Amino acid sequence: MDTITGFSRHSGALRCVPVVPARHVPGLADDVREGLLEPPRSLPPKYFYDERGAALFNRICETPEYYLTRTEDALLRQCSADIIALTCPDYLIELGSGSSGKTANLFDACERQGHTCIYSPFDICEPALAEAAGKLQDDYEWLDVRPLLGDYHAGLDHLPDYAGVKMFLFLGSTIGNFTPGEARAFIGGIRQRMEPGDFLLLGADRVKDPTVLNAAYNDAQGITALFNLNVLQVLNRELGADFRADNFAHLAVYNNELNRIEMYLVSRLDQEITLGRLDAGFTLERGERILTELSYKFYFDELETLLEDSGLEIVRHFEPDNRYFSLVLARRE
Ligand code: AVJ
Repeated sequence: MDTITGFSRHSGALRCVPVVPARHVPGLADDVREGLLEPPRSLPPKYFYDERGAALFNRICETPEYYLTRTEDALLRQCSADIIALTCPDYLIELGSGSSGKTANLFDACERQGHTCIYSPFDICEPALAEAAGKLQDDYEWLDVRPLLGDYHAGLDHLPDYAGVKMFLFLGSTIGNFTPGEARAFIGGIRQRMEPGDFLLLGADRVKDPTVLNAAYNDAQGITALFNLNVLQVLNRELGADFRADNFAHLAVYNNELNRIEMYLVSRLDQEITLGRLDAGFTLERGERILTELSYKFYFDELETLLEDSGLEIVRHFEPDNRYFSLVLARRE
């Protein structure tokens, strides 16, 4: 048993340690009452990621149009050696780790440099997290994998105490799901968890040709549409709702003024929805929209300002030749 985290090691399947949120986290029922019952209707994007949603997201990453993951992966492959040499982390803590696919580049760099560390992937979907963590532990036997389960947003203040150099990883442009104000608050929250000499590696998607952006969220195979519609199944299952996927259309458009993709579910007809477990319901008009996700895109300087305004110092800012994506390494002085 590890005295710091209370985590015991198993061979084979990896047990996820639940992280208790520091504050009350509204549940699905609260968020639905708050956002869905009255227009303008919206749902937080975290509810996409049930087991099927997490799998669909992984399939999105394989579509030719969704360049984000493969661009970040290739960029990480290129700069991992520099990142590990510059940071020599004892702990890698990844917020919203998903399948940890891209992160393997950092472990490969560790391996080449003979550097060992502890890796804590932190995510909300237990089966996906346990599987990803177990697989990593098998692939990298020198790596100490300690998965953390929960809402990483609210759980930030209740992370285990770490002795040594930490590097927080916030990859995949998940930062883009926050409004600018929320993004600032979130980076500020990470900064509070950092001690002098700790690092943050932030991966973020960049402003680019709207044609490229629109295609990325409207793949020809329709996987993004399935991913978007899947949240209705989550509501049916968790809240006893009676949404019918056929009655909704996927809509994703780039907003040029606000530099963000806006993703909606659009009602195909006038319809009535019942939320059995909430003892509530509402009506939707044909053409009415439910906002399901915002995905902000960033300018190079904007990312540096975001980090600097939170009291972090930019160590390196990596980008590929096409400038499609940024990996910013920042440090608390
Ligand atoms: C995981 C939040 C970065 O915004 O691009 C992919 C999720 N939504 N296709 C994104 C997503 C639609 C993705 N993030």
